[in-house]
Amino acid sequence: MQPSEKLLLYNKAWVQDKLELDDNYFATLAADQNPDFLWIGCSDSRVPANEITGTDPGEMFVHRNIANLVVPGDLNVLSVVQYAVEVLQVKHVIVCGHYECGGVKAAMAGKKLGLIDEWLVNIKQAQEKHQAELDQIADDHARFDRFVELNVQEQIYHLAETDSVRKMWASSQIPSLHGWVFNLRTGLLNEVINLEPPVLAMENERADDAINQ
Ligand code: CO
Repeated sequence: MQPSEKLLLYNKAWVQDKLELDDNYFATLAADQNPDFLWIGCSDSRVPANEITGTDPGEMFVHRNIANLVVPGDLNVLSVVQYAVEVLQVKHVIVCGHYECGGVKAAMAGKKLGLIDEWLVNIKQAQEKHQAELDQIADDHARFDRFVELNVQEQIYHLAETDSVRKMWASSQIPSLHGWVFNLRTGLLNEVINLEPPVLAMENERADDAINQ
């Protein structure tokens, strides 16, 4: 059997399993989506968003690219963010990096890999910003791990600067932004950064509105 045929066979078995538990499973799934989470993760095959978080179909809107980047000006990721944040109104946006990330490693090493180098330029900017901290880490692997974390942190800052997040934060208390790193060696998620909507800024704005009215 071809490996791809195995996937199709598995799919049929999965459909049967779902229908045995709930006759209406797919009718419900088809009707609408109302996910609480947007996941922006790496394309790496070892970091399956739903599986490691125990989320079912319908619970998580997902975007994956090499090295989990939120690049200002990237129409693809910005469209996903806009739809998830403004239309679906997800409550949480998660940027999830992972240790042993090939994209981050390639950017750090300055290896030439072809077209992908153009994409990895975006990681190099984070590297330059944190070069002083990284230079102080003598152990190569520890430095690599730390850079994976700093890269996630930078992407959270990029997210906070997007029009979609700023617009939502000006009028509501969603979304929260979470930067996580998946540890392939243990299977655990490591929290690196959390950004909540700025309560004070919103209250001040409301106060200004009240004065202006
Ligand atoms: Co990766």
